[in-house]
Amino acid sequence: MKKISLTGIKPTGTPHLGNYLGAIRPALELSKTYDTVYFIADYHALTTVQNGAEMRANIYKIAATWLALGLNPEEGLFYKQSDIPEIFELSWALSCFTPKGFMNRAHAYKDKVAKNEAAGEDPDANVNMGLYCYPCLMDADILMFSADIVPVGKDQKQHVEFARDIAIKFNKHFGQDVFTIPEPVFQETTGIIPGLDGRKMSKSYDNVIDIFLDSKALKKKIGKIVTNSQGIEEPKDPDSCNVFKLYKLFATPEQTEALAARYRAGGMGWGHAKQELQNVLEEHLGAAREKYFYLLDHTEEIDKILAYGKEKARVKSKAMMEKVRSLLGTY
Ligand code: TRP
Repeated sequence: MKKISLTGIKPTGTPHLGNYLGAIRPALELSKTYDTVYFIADYHALTTVQNGAEMRANIYKIAATWLALGLNPEEGLFYKQSDIPEIFELSWALSCFTPKGFMNRAHAYKDKVAKNEAAGEDPDANVNMGLYCYPCLMDADILMFSADIVPVGKDQKQHVEFARDIAIKFNKHFGQDVFTIPEPVFQETTGIIPGLDGRKMSKSYDNVIDIFLDSKALKKKIGKIVTNSQGIEEPKDPDSCNVFKLYKLFATPEQTEALAARYRAGGMGWGHAKQELQNVLEEHLGAAREKYFYLLDHTEEIDKILAYGKEKARVKSKAMMEKVRSLLGTY
């Protein structure tokens, strides 16, 4: 039997190339060796996205993104968290086995409190209970489907460790291996993925390139990548160039070598380099982009896929909840 890889995808905005290379591509890669459980964590997003129209649009966007990039809903599980009521039931049950101190120590909460204190505000200003209890919901996400590994960014390490601790504690309390003990795994670093200004690509720096832009919008974005002021004729250093760094992440080794040679030879301007980047992105993501926009024009197809995922997932979640309830004595 294959092991299970599980991860949640928060529908909080439009994913960019950094998300693609750092999270989406490696997670999809795991589907070759693991059974995958990939779901849309909409009720986690609710701690910040509190507008129905925006939430709905975000859910469609993120579902279309993963499907377009190759997630196969026939293999493994792909569902929307809010469609699985057992997750919320389990979340409550687990919270009764979770020391409050864990939540006090959770990074996201602690950071927020520290910021409030630094600003001279009430420590809990703008902290809702959803943010505070966020890790308990994640525990339920992970333990419900017996995940062996959880591919996440480093910022989620602590959350997965909480899930481990609670699983161990719960199993011990009832003297049974109810839950699989999950392991966080971090993506092989492709190195830092540079944004338009050369800093790490991140929404908080406002330097991102979205995964799916039409050719015109993509050209405009690429035009904004910061380069130095060397003239066309001058030989250039590929390795210190943001355009080249991005190019390299998508191009084949041969393409990369060829472009590096053109940099060093001189006679190639930044406009040319940027055109090469555009070409390689179109090549790599063009077909997926078509599928993405097709799905967003046919959201009923996304609905169908998620309804199918819900049915499949609930077979598992109902069985797990039955086991848990029998231990708790709540039926
Ligand atoms: N908290 C995760 C994030 O912000 C999303 C998430 C929700 C998740 N539930 C999960 C990730 C379960 C892994 C496993 O990215």
